[in-house]
Amino acid sequence: MPTPVPPDLDGAEPYEDIRIRIGPRSGLPVIVAVHSTVRGRAIGGCRIAHYPRWQDGLTDALRLSAAMTAKCAVAGLPHGGGKVVVAVAEDTALTGARRRAVLHDVGDAIAALDGAYATGPDVGTGPDDMTTIAERTPYVFCRPPERGGSGDSSGHTAAGVLAALRAVCAERFAAPLAAHRFAVVGLGRVGGQLARLLAAAGAELVVSDIDPAGRRLAGELGAAWVDPADALRAPVDVLVPAALGGVLTPVTVPLLRCAAVAGPANNQLDAPATADLLHRRGILWAPDFVVSAGGVIHATAVELGGRTGEEAARLVTGIEDTLAGVLTAARTAGTSPMAAALALARRRTAPRPAEVSHS
Ligand code: PHE
Repeated sequence: MPTPVPPDLDGAEPYEDIRIRIGPRSGLPVIVAVHSTVRGRAIGGCRIAHYPRWQDGLTDALRLSAAMTAKCAVAGLPHGGGKVVVAVAEDTALTGARRRAVLHDVGDAIAALDGAYATGPDVGTGPDDMTTIAERTPYVFCRPPERGGSGDSSGHTAAGVLAALRAVCAERFAAPLAAHRFAVVGLGRVGGQLARLLAAAGAELVVSDIDPAGRRLAGELGAAWVDPADALRAPVDVLVPAALGGVLTPVTVPLLRCAAVAGPANNQLDAPATADLLHRRGILWAPDFVVSAGGVIHATAVELGGRTGEEAARLVTGIEDTLAGVLTAARTAGTSPMAAALALARRRTAPRPAEVSHS
C-alpha cells in the first residue's frame, strides 16, 4: 500500500507564500517558500547552492520548506516550515562584496514577510552569514554568540542524530549503538562531527566524502574509507546519509546492504513512495525530518525559550524518545516509519476548526 502522504505535507495544497525575486543588489534569484504557519512562525535555513537552472532551486525550496513543517511538528516546536534558496549558477563564486550583496537581498526578502518566516544556516551558509542577514531583518537564528545568537547549529544537529541512532539500534537490533557498524556518507559540518561522536561512542565506522580530504578524518578516527560511488553499497548495519538529498530512489534502494538508514541529510527520498520500498525490503528508514531536528530544537530553545545551553542540549537528546515513539507506532500499525511520522505531523498541523459564531 502506498504511503498516505497528507496533502498538507506533500505540497498538493498551495503554500502560504512563495516569492521569487531577482535580488536588486546581487542579480541572483532569491526564492522564499513559506509552507505553513499553522503552528507558528515558519522557520528553516537559508541555502545558497549551485543549481543547473534556477527552477531546480525552486523545487528544492518547495520540498525543503514542507519538510521543515513536518520537522517542527514532530519535534513539538510551535513553528511552521519555510526555506530560502538562492540559486547560483555553477560557475559563480560568492565571496566578499558579492556575498554581502546576496545576503542583504535575502535579508530584505525576509523583512518583507513581516515576521511570517525566520531563517537560519543551511547548506552553503553559516553563523557569520546570519550576522550579515541580520543587518536587514531581526528574523535570524544562529548568529555567533558574541553577536547575540546561539551560534553554529551543526554540532547540535549531529548530537540529535546520535540520539536518533540510539533509538534506531534499540528498535532494529535491540542492542546499543557501540555494537554496530555505521557508514557516514558526507563529512561536511554535520557529518564530520557525527563521525567523531560515533567513534567516541565506540561504534565501528566507514566514512565517505566527495572531497578526498575526508580521508584525513578517516585516518584520525580509525575509520575505513569508501569511495563515494560505492558508499551506498557498503555492508554495514546502519547507513547514515549526511550529504545532499535525493539519495534513496527505486534504483539505489535495491543496492543497499544495510539493516537501517538514518542520517541528517534533508529530503533523502526522491519521492515519498520510496519509504515503502525500504519498508518492504525490511530496511528501517528513520524519517530525516525527525532525525535532523537538533539544530532547530537547540536554536529555538536558546534564542526564544531563554534556555541554557545545557537545557537545550537535553532537549536535543529528546529526539531519541521522539523517534522511538514514531518507530513503535509504525511497528504497532504495521506501516513504514515515514507513514507514522507523517501521521503525527499531520495531526499536529491540522488547521484548527473555524471558530463557531454565536451571534
Ligand atoms: N538548516 C536547519 C534545518 O534544516 C535550519 C535552521 C537551523 C533553522 C537552526 C533555524 C535554526 O533544520
